[in-house]
Amino acid sequence: MALYSEKVMDHFRNPRNVGSIENADGVGEVGNEKCGDIMRIYLKIDNDVVTDVKFETFGCASAIASSSMATELIKGKNLSEVMHLTNKAVTEALDGLPAHKLHCSVLAEEAIRAAIEDYFHKNQIEYIS
Ligand code: FES
Repeated sequence: MALYSEKVMDHFRNPRNVGSIENADGVGEVGNEKCGDIMRIYLKIDNDVVTDVKFETFGCASAIASSSMATELIKGKNLSEVMHLTNKAVTEALDGLPAHKLHCSVLAEEAIRAAIEDYFHKNQIEYIS
């Protein structure tokens, strides 16, 4: 069996939503100390809905594929759904990741949550994490 699913390879080779958003409503950046990879997520939010999302990931193939898939999963969704996006959902949507690469999908979950928290913070909205 191949180490990476076709979906992982596809999202790694043709990542969706790469880039940044000027005047984003929320920006979240997280890193993994062990591997040194960094992921940044930019959100445009309108009426509690993610209307646009972009990412910049300086990291491994799994981190890039996870960011790409995660952005696709949250586009057009409302914040309460987006806040509950788990790395498991990202991994499943990618048809799995090797066990030693699961932490790469955790970065996507954390970066998205950090971007939403940034949005809440900027708008002084109270939230329960
Ligand atoms: Fe660290 Fe993939 S090896 S994010």
